[in-house]
Amino acid sequence: MHGLTDKLVLITGGAGAIGAATAARFLTEGSRVVVVDSDPAAIGRLESELPALTGSIRADVTQADQVAAAFEELDRRHGRLDVLINNAGISLRGRFMDITSQEWRQVMAVNLDGVFLVAQQAARSMLAGSGGVILNMGSTNGLVGYHHYASYNASKAGVIELTRSMALELGPTIRVNAVCPGFILTPMQEAEYTPEMRQAFASKLPLGRLGRPDDVAALFVFLASDDATFITGQHFVIDGGEIAGGLASQP
Ligand SMILES: NC(=O)c1ccc[n+]([C@@H]2O[C@H](COP(=O)([O-])OP(=O)(O)OC[C@H]3O[C@@H](n4cnc5c(N)ncnc54)[C@H](O)[C@@H]3O)[C@@H](O)[C@H]2O)c1
Repeated sequence: MHGLTDKLVLITGGAGAIGAATAARFLTEGSRVVVVDSDPAAIGRLESELPALTGSIRADVTQADQVAAAFEELDRRHGRLDVLINNAGISLRGRFMDITSQEWRQVMAVNLDGVFLVAQQAARSMLAGSGGVILNMGSTNGLVGYHHYASYNASKAGVIELTRSMALELGPTIRVNAVCPGFILTPMQEAEYTPEMRQAFASKLPLGRLGRPDDVAALFVFLASDDATFITGQHFVIDGGEIAGGLASQP
């Protein structure tokens, strides 16, 4: 990709499956990568796997004071921010009628409040510097309904709309887009779904396989690069064709 050499890239949830693959991919593009994550053990594992990582900051994205402190540290250490991958997120499975207000708040706090708090700090830094790119993590769950994930679905729909609104107000200095993956196979999902369940799902997809963290990393790298300088305010689905058709399109 063009224009990523020496760029300072910040990845929230960077110690998780998609975050770590994205960190590795930006490093191969010649970027400098700092991860933010609330899980110190996961950060430690990532630092051993990716010794080229530029830095890591432990922070909980739901806490405005921790987010502000993380950006102060980033500014002190690196003095700039070019690309934000606003990726930290959680999901809680449960029937709509069983969701407690505490569970609802927990999902919104990470997936929507966290994305807002981090994006606003990043935008401040980019507006004061020489501009940049913000890529928010959405999901196909923000575009169509899925059983038993009402809070997650609503939070990701919010991320997609926040992305459009940010793009309107932050252009032309900052480009803002959202990435919406379908089923990406991560260690957590390998633990949650049997190989038979995964195969059954994959066989329904036009592309016949589940996604990989690397697939998503490749889309982030493209959207952050100078190959995408006319793209803002959009969401990009990466799902093997999962939501190309609706119920009525099934044979
Ligand atoms: N895996 C999929 O199929 C899939 C599909 C669509 C979207 N997504 C989204 O991609 C993102 C990454 O998912 P993943 O599959 O890599 O999950 P993951 O659980 O492997 O990674 C999430 C990371 O976020 C961190 N995190 C969680 N809460 C945090 C907080 N409050 N503050 C800071 N860090 C926090 C976790 O410690 C973890 O390292 C999420 O936003 C998720 O909703 C995943």
